[in-house]
Amino acid sequence: MIKNKLSFKAVAVIALLLCSITLSSCKKVEQKKFLIGFSQSTMIDPWRINMLEQMKDAVQKNKDMIDFIFTDGQNDNMKQISDVEDLFSKGIDLLIISPREAEPLTPVVERVYNAGVPVITLDRNITSDAYTCFIGASNFKIGQGAGTLMASLLKEAGQVIEIEGILGATPTIDRSDGFHSIADSIPGIQVVEKQPADYLREPALKIMEDFLQSHPQIDGVYAHNDEMALGVLTALKAAGREGAVVIGIDGQKEAFESIMAGRMTATFIYPNGSAQAVEVAIKILKGAKVPKKIELESQLVNNSNVKLFYNPNSYF
Ligand code: FRU
Repeated sequence: MIKNKLSFKAVAVIALLLCSITLSSCKKVEQKKFLIGFSQSTMIDPWRINMLEQMKDAVQKNKDMIDFIFTDGQNDNMKQISDVEDLFSKGIDLLIISPREAEPLTPVVERVYNAGVPVITLDRNITSDAYTCFIGASNFKIGQGAGTLMASLLKEAGQVIEIEGILGATPTIDRSDGFHSIADSIPGIQVVEKQPADYLREPALKIMEDFLQSHPQIDGVYAHNDEMALGVLTALKAAGREGAVVIGIDGQKEAFESIMAGRMTATFIYPNGSAQAVEVAIKILKGAKVPKKIELESQLVNNSNVKLFYNPNSYF
């Protein structure tokens, strides 16, 4: 009888043990995935489409660890603010954001960050330091590089047009400041016009058409991205004034083709940082410490090295 009782007890204990082992191994299999929300400022231009594609690739490689939601701010600060609020209310574990403009997006990013959700600012930054890590290339250095190149190609004398990106976006400010830190120190280089075209091709084309009317002499154009530089090239061609130095930023396929064709002077590759953002996000979510700023490398591309970077099979 006692023997039977004991063996019954033993069986019960073994059963309990087995149960908890199975449960804990089940838990392991079902381990909660991290939810990453990406608030993109716009999908209106190829650089940003490519950025999202590359981010999705990076997410796919880590799909056992992360779930991903993405929102398109549609080039509208208010839309992007409500996107971030939506992502937050969906319970994201980490926010990646490329803020359209710095100031309007800062308060909502601060709210998310102060609520304990880590934030990666990607390529464009906010105005406060309420974020975990910024990833991007130095736009100031790129601007300096463009200024130095412009000055040397124009032999330190000439009239230059600057076509700016979205005025309140941090890359615009830094690309302009970097350029002027060089150009303004050379008396012969005159920036005769400066106007924003919001990183878009069509507005840049129109602005350039007007400048061509009002300026009989234009020696160089510094455009804050390739889309706008491509618009400028179209206007220069239509006006029969293709000799000007044209410098862009991003390193997009069409810009490379224009450089190879001798129509565009140079561009600076502006990496989108998507893969790095996913990698850093995972580190943060696993509890690792990451630096406040990760600076990505840029690269000057002109007719001497363009073939090394041109990929006929890529769409960007
Ligand atoms: C700046 C920038 C540009 C790019 C544009 C696209 O933040 O990344 O280099 O062309 O935004 O929106």
